[in-house]
Amino acid sequence: MYNEPMLKDNALKDKVILVTGGGTGLGRSMSKYFLQLGAKVVIASRKLPVLEQTAKELEEETGGTVLALECDVRNYLEVEKTLQAIIEKFGKLDVLLNNAAGNFISPTERLSPKAFDVVIGIVLQGTYNFTLAVGKHWIEQKQRGTILNIVTTYAWTGSPYVVPSACAKAGVLALTRSLAVEWAKYGIRSNAIAPGPFPTKGAWDRLFPEPLREMMKVEKKVPLGRVGEHQELANLAAYLVSDFSSYVNGEVMTIDGGEWLKGAGEFSHLDILTPEMWDVAEKMVRGAKGS
Ligand code: HXC
Ligand code: NAP
Repeated sequence: MYNEPMLKDNALKDKVILVTGGGTGLGRSMSKYFLQLGAKVVIASRKLPVLEQTAKELEEETGGTVLALECDVRNYLEVEKTLQAIIEKFGKLDVLLNNAAGNFISPTERLSPKAFDVVIGIVLQGTYNFTLAVGKHWIEQKQRGTILNIVTTYAWTGSPYVVPSACAKAGVLALTRSLAVEWAKYGIRSNAIAPGPFPTKGAWDRLFPEPLREMMKVEKKVPLGRVGEHQELANLAAYLVSDFSSYVNGEVMTIDGGEWLKGAGEFSHLDILTPEMWDVAEKMVRGAKGS
């Protein structure tokens, strides 16, 4: 059931949507659904051959139009050039989806300053570079627009072992909320999605590497007992970039099966108690009188 597309046909008809990091993983899956809903999609990242292959496959799978552009999101000149190329090809851009990311697990004391820089550069600098270039363009053209940023649930809790990513995603969340207020007067909405675990090669190879994967048992941390399906995320993203969400602004929508709240709850670990153990516990708790 959760693999069903959600929005009606043509819900994104004629919208031009830029998905950074759209050549792989979740960016690819969201791009595919946007195309199925009638959008024209631009995918941009560092590896042009990967982008071109994805563009070809997505056009064959959906019959839509995909433009693949090489761009390192850390480089503002490349970002401006990418925007120019989009305007030349399609005449406009309606949606900016900041999805590109870099991340890996590591004890923080093992990181070099360059390791911090690379993750913060891709995630935070990449997001503000595109946001700034596209926002200035929309404001100058008096065009309405929608920004959607992909963060993650540790943007607000922080997380050990992915500290550069946590710092960067927290910054992206602050950017999302700040501009939701500041740029609303220009008709620009800013929202974010905070996904929990959705299997992709990029994330799994760097966050759940093979020797640790079995031990980490990612589904076990999720109250719903499973990882996310790409279509579930694509459905939410399509809603947030569509006009159906016109009054949603400054929101961060969590899609994680309840994972982060389980981590936060004082008694979440009591899941392991059997009914018999609860009988014993209840007897003791009810018996605790007068203290
Ligand atoms: C310690 C590391 C390291 C590691 C790299 N570095 N990997 N340090 N442990 N495992 C250090 C390097 O030694 C170097 O510093 C610096 O980081 C830059 O590394 P490069 O390999 O030169 O960088 P680059 O080739 O640009 O690659 C960037 C990358 C890489 C981020 C390291 O992983 C990448 O390209 N990632 C893109 C895709 C990705 O990460 N997808 C996953 C997103 S998942 P020195 O000082 O030695 O030169 C995600 C999910 C979040 O965000 C939530 C999940 C629930
Ligand atoms: P992914 O497939 O590795 O996607 C990351 C993309 O970012 C790649 O396509 C990569 O393309 C691009 N990228 C990296 N550095 C770049 C740069 N300097 N300039 C331009 N593009 C760059 O991983 P994913 O799992 O789909 O992640 C997508 C998004 O979801 C990320 O924002 C991630 O933080 C978020 N997220 C994922 C999960 C999950 O469980 N998968 C959970 C929470 C949040 P190139 O290598 O070609 O540059």
